[in-house]
Amino acid sequence: MKIAIAGAGYVGLVTGVVFADLGNEVICVDIDPAKVDAINKGQSTIYEPGLDELLQRNLEEGRITAMTDLQRATREAEVVFICVGTPPSETGEPDLKHVEAAAAAIGQALNGYKIIVNKSTVPVGTGDRIRRIIEQHRREPHDFDVVSNPEFLREGSAVHDTLYPDRIVIGADNPRAAMKIVELYAALERPMLITNLATAEIIKYASNTFLALKISFINAIADLCERTGADVTQVAKAMGYDSRIGHAFLQAGLGFGGSCFPKDVQAFAHTMQRYGLDPTLFQQVLAINDARPVQFVERMRARLGGLQGRTVGLLGLSFKPNTDDIREARSLEVIRLLLQEGATVKAYDPVAMPRVQAIYPAVLYCRNAYEVAENADALALITEWNEFRQLNFERIRDSMRQPNLFDGRNLYDPQRMRKLGFYYYGIGRAAENSEFKTVL
Ligand code: UDX
Repeated sequence: MKIAIAGAGYVGLVTGVVFADLGNEVICVDIDPAKVDAINKGQSTIYEPGLDELLQRNLEEGRITAMTDLQRATREAEVVFICVGTPPSETGEPDLKHVEAAAAAIGQALNGYKIIVNKSTVPVGTGDRIRRIIEQHRREPHDFDVVSNPEFLREGSAVHDTLYPDRIVIGADNPRAAMKIVELYAALERPMLITNLATAEIIKYASNTFLALKISFINAIADLCERTGADVTQVAKAMGYDSRIGHAFLQAGLGFGGSCFPKDVQAFAHTMQRYGLDPTLFQQVLAINDARPVQFVERMRARLGGLQGRTVGLLGLSFKPNTDDIREARSLEVIRLLLQEGATVKAYDPVAMPRVQAIYPAVLYCRNAYEVAENADALALITEWNEFRQLNFERIRDSMRQPNLFDGRNLYDPQRMRKLGFYYYGIGRAAENSEFKTVL
């Protein structure tokens, strides 16, 4: 099939490369000429395992190309995917200007029947809006259909998630269009659900919001564990054995970041409000999440007797391991709070340091975890990169000014750390944090 993809960001580029690898002819379109050039040279503009190899192979085979002209790409394609960004506007609602601009360009270029597939995360009702915009802009009365095909890929495993999705959701009001998209995905041999447009649009937000809710839920339980002498990691483990609950997304810690969860939960709360429904549940998911870094820094302040003049070392800065993405990363909030209180902040991350440096030049960026620990009053794990799992903690302990370990992701074994002579604080692990236990 001939496919055009508007937007060569995470979703667009990965989708394009995977479709090309399945034998389709793909044109990736982006307004940024530098991005287009890089793609045409076989350099993906994002850090994603496996993507460069796949891009290069398909470029060599001539199945993928990139350009800036969406109208030209649309004229050549049977199916046009919209994968542009929907960043939050000032009100927290997604800004649809890029989606609307793409729809207008597609409308102007319509030169025959085409299927327009929206993959961008958009509030329910946007598919109808895309349809109206195309109708308004088309120069000839060609027929077209709009389909919603939400994307569930995670950063760091985007290629894998696109090749092996848990499910493929195809929302279309016209079965003819749905069947064409089913055909496109058939080679993946994964479960497919065909729904109407509105249903598919809600599935995306409902899924992300539910995952965020699981994280905030377990973090609320972590607070109770901390006050009562319980251990949240064991609570989560036992809960997870109930097959109705499952173990995934029940890791208490500093909470969720990234380009999706925070903005999607906020957008979903707005949608509820817009339809006269109560958004409180979703607002609470965000409020609990926002409180995590504040509480974490509070624990450090309590332990160190104030943060002024103290040195705090941070391990990991990206919003999660295996990505250089720092959007809504918890590290940013932790750094902000520490600097505000007069602490000296040292940090190390395998890939995300340059991005954080652009925001916080005052942080002392180090070459590895050991350099971070040197002369620090506290060492805090923020992002659980694999390379932090097996550190030489004897060496770390000996080089610190005071051996205080704050584990923001419950990565380490509290008993082992205490045996090594560390003061250890883990989230919701009061058995080890006895000073935070409340006796009523
Ligand atoms: C997420 C969704 O998983 C994906 O389906 C959607 O398309 C986009 O948003 P992503 O943003 O890449 O993907 O990150 P994900 O791996 O889901 O992690 C999100 C955040 O939640 C991270 O900051 C992570 O540290 C945090 N998290 C995750 C927890 O705090 N606890 C958990 O148990 C799981």
